Amino acid sequence: MNKEKLAATASAIVASGKGILAADESTPTMGKRLALIGQENTEANRRDFRQALFDTDGMEHFISGVILFEETLEQKTEDGRRLSEILESKGVFPGIKVDKGAHPMENSPSEKLTKGLDGLYERCVEYYSQGARFAKWRAVITIGDGIPTDGCIRANASALAKYAKACQDAQLVPIVEPEVLMDGDHTIETCYEISEKTFKTVFEELENEGVYLPGILLKPNMVVSGTECSTLGDMIAVAELTVKCLKASVPEEVPGIVFLSGGQSEMEATEHLNAMNNMGSYPWALSFSYGRALQQSALHAWNGDNANLETTYATFYHRAEMNSKACLGDYSPELEI
Ligand code: 13P
Repeated sequence: MNKEKLAATASAIVASGKGILAADESTPTMGKRLALIGQENTEANRRDFRQALFDTDGMEHFISGVILFEETLEQKTEDGRRLSEILESKGVFPGIKVDKGAHPMENSPSEKLTKGLDGLYERCVEYYSQGARFAKWRAVITIGDGIPTDGCIRANASALAKYAKACQDAQLVPIVEPEVLMDGDHTIETCYEISEKTFKTVFEELENEGVYLPGILLKPNMVVSGTECSTLGDMIAVAELTVKCLKASVPEEVPGIVFLSGGQSEMEATEHLNAMNNMGSYPWALSFSYGRALQQSALHAWNGDNANLETTYATFYHRAEMNSKACLGDYSPELEI
């Protein structure tokens, strides 16, 4: 493990005003996104939309890394370039989702455990040789009747730590993603309690595995109320509770925290990040690693038709720029077009 290089890559990804585009939807999940615009889940559609995002002129001012699904890492454009080469030519780090999805847990089937540790180190070595410089593994924690159990939190944290160690041994910066889901009618306070417990357990396990903290990035959920909760947390409550939760659980050596959007609207995700960066300064950079909150309006602008590329570029550029401003606490809704 070259610690210096890992730390340099992790810090470069969260350089001032920069964040990550999560474009690593699995093929079935990409099918759900394409269905929103009435398009079929073909390889050409997946490639064309993703290529439009990567081809956007100037996106590299706001986006430092893109998480890819395995298919995309080796996929070629119609004129024969590798999609990941487009990113490399702009100085954007290609990343790779390496987990094999969240599956029902054996002794608690309403909860999920993320799989993918078998042969992981060898896969990471191969991904590095294909140009990947960082990786992602997502664990999901569900809030519901009697769940999450301690066993589920511990098992997912342990797998995240083993994944992170394998990545670092192969020179990939691991993005450690424990996601407490928004699904359900739980309050923002419940989300806080479960998130703090989850993040603390994750850092215990990272320490047990000997993971080098300056060479990771944490990708957590924000602390928000459940989507079916009758009392919506307001923007300030989300920002304050999220920061409080992170201060209680994330060691200062971690260089950056890159949030997932998790079902928030594009503007909510931007406003929440901006509010946190406005409230103070922190030992870690607070940035974004959004999927839906960076792609939603660009997907609708594209609408399955490459005749719409110019508006797709403009729409994606705008969303990326708004989130870049949120990293600096410089966003305001008046900047929306
Ligand atoms: P969302 O921002 O759409 O939640 O996606 C981020 C991600 O990578 C989830 O694993």
